[in-house]
Amino acid sequence: MQAAQYQQWLRDTRRFWDVPTESEARFDRVCSSLEIGATDDPEALEHIWQRQTEDAVRQITDGIPVGADWRCVEIGCGVGRLMKAMAPRVACVIGVDLSPRMLDFARDYLADVPNVELHLNDGRSLDMVRDASIDFVYSHLAFQHITLYEVVDAYLADIARVLKPGGYCRIQNWREGPIPAVERAKNMARSLLGREILRSNRCWQWREGKCVRFGGVTFTPRQWRRRLRRFGLQAIRTQLGLGHEYWMWTTSRAKGAHRRA
Ligand SMILES: C[S@@+](CC[C@H](N)C(=O)[O-])C[C@H]1O[C@@H](n2cnc3c(N)ncnc32)[C@H](O)[C@@H]1O
Repeated sequence: MQAAQYQQWLRDTRRFWDVPTESEARFDRVCSSLEIGATDDPEALEHIWQRQTEDAVRQITDGIPVGADWRCVEIGCGVGRLMKAMAPRVACVIGVDLSPRMLDFARDYLADVPNVELHLNDGRSLDMVRDASIDFVYSHLAFQHITLYEVVDAYLADIARVLKPGGYCRIQNWREGPIPAVERAKNMARSLLGREILRSNRCWQWREGKCVRFGGVTFTPRQWRRRLRRFGLQAIRTQLGLGHEYWMWTTSRAKGAHRRA
């Protein structure tokens, strides 16, 4: 990936996530939905936040034999709501995020949780995590915003590096949705020419200082499984939907001795 392109991507991405207030971080960036938009009542907002967090944790851990001795990593941890829910169930949770502001809020939000670590990263790597030291990597509402294939690939390579043999990975991302006819035609042409089909109509777009589009690159389930495999991650379960029509949830395992059934 070209350095200038990556730097521009990092600037744009941080610009979107670095919001000034905790309330904006929680109810505009991390959780946003029609029912959140429809109320200003703090109690109602807390209630929705709790319910959405419980739903998310259920989906993240669905089918994963989470153990009390597990070391976990969350990619794109935001203010740390999922880490807070995961921490009592495992030995430790390491949260990484590219947004300095989100991590400021997370430090407050997790102040009374002892077994968590927070790290600012470069948006594409897990440099602070040792090789083969992690039982479970998960990511929710972060990959769907990554607009460069190279960044996704860099993460997949690092996830494979940090997972113990047989360790688990569960990622929510965005499956390929309807794309404009002209993009479809271009994809078909590329395919006929033997070039990779993966081109997305999604990208960061700013108008008058406001971000008007922020969807990340998308994959068909088959393309995604193939990509995981290329980095040594064996997909064992793919689920479509579960929260949003275009969401895709994939559980995969690192190659090597499967320590647990
Ligand atoms: C919608 S929030 C979700 C936070 C958390 N996963 C949750 O569900 O509560 C997305 C978070 O991912 C972070 N993020 C987005 N792209 C990222 C990337 N490439 N690397 C690291 N963090 C990223 C953002 O800064 C933001 O804090």
